[in-house]
Amino acid sequence: MSARAEITVTVNGLSTTRAVDPRLLLSDFLRHELGLTGTHVGCEHGVCGACTILLDGRSARACLMLAVQADGATIDTVEGLGSMEALGRVQTAFRDHHALQCGFCTPGFLMTITDMLRHHALESDAQIREALSGNICRCTGYEHIVNAVRELARERGPLK
Ligand code: FES
Ligand code: FES
Repeated sequence: MSARAEITVTVNGLSTTRAVDPRLLLSDFLRHELGLTGTHVGCEHGVCGACTILLDGRSARACLMLAVQADGATIDTVEGLGSMEALGRVQTAFRDHHALQCGFCTPGFLMTITDMLRHHALESDAQIREALSGNICRCTGYEHIVNAVRELARERGPLK
């Protein structure tokens, strides 16, 4: 049996230190150790995007990393975007545009979009679709998701 390793991460603004199995996936750490079950696990091999989080401010797949690799990192999960009482802006845009159906893929899309809005122009639907191309929605409601992102990109304006 492998010795547990101590890691310290800042998740949604809160610093936490835990002893983890060296083979524990970051997605399982977030879900099972921290109870942040908004990070969904679909394919578990980096294809679907459901497990997307922000790692030091950039989108990353939590199923492709070990928890020990995140030691010292700042992580944002979908729980950090808003609450039931006060949804964040990306969440309200999704709600207003009916951009979710079963909702399984939604946390991953929300985190990807948060990153893309910060770093990509998103000036055309083609750019928006390319930015979202790493996230798969089995309900295939992409048109509504693109509508939500188009509104968010217009609201944000050009990148500085
Ligand atoms: S669960 Fe991580 S990419 Fe699908
Ligand atoms: S809303 Fe169902 S998988 Fe995307």
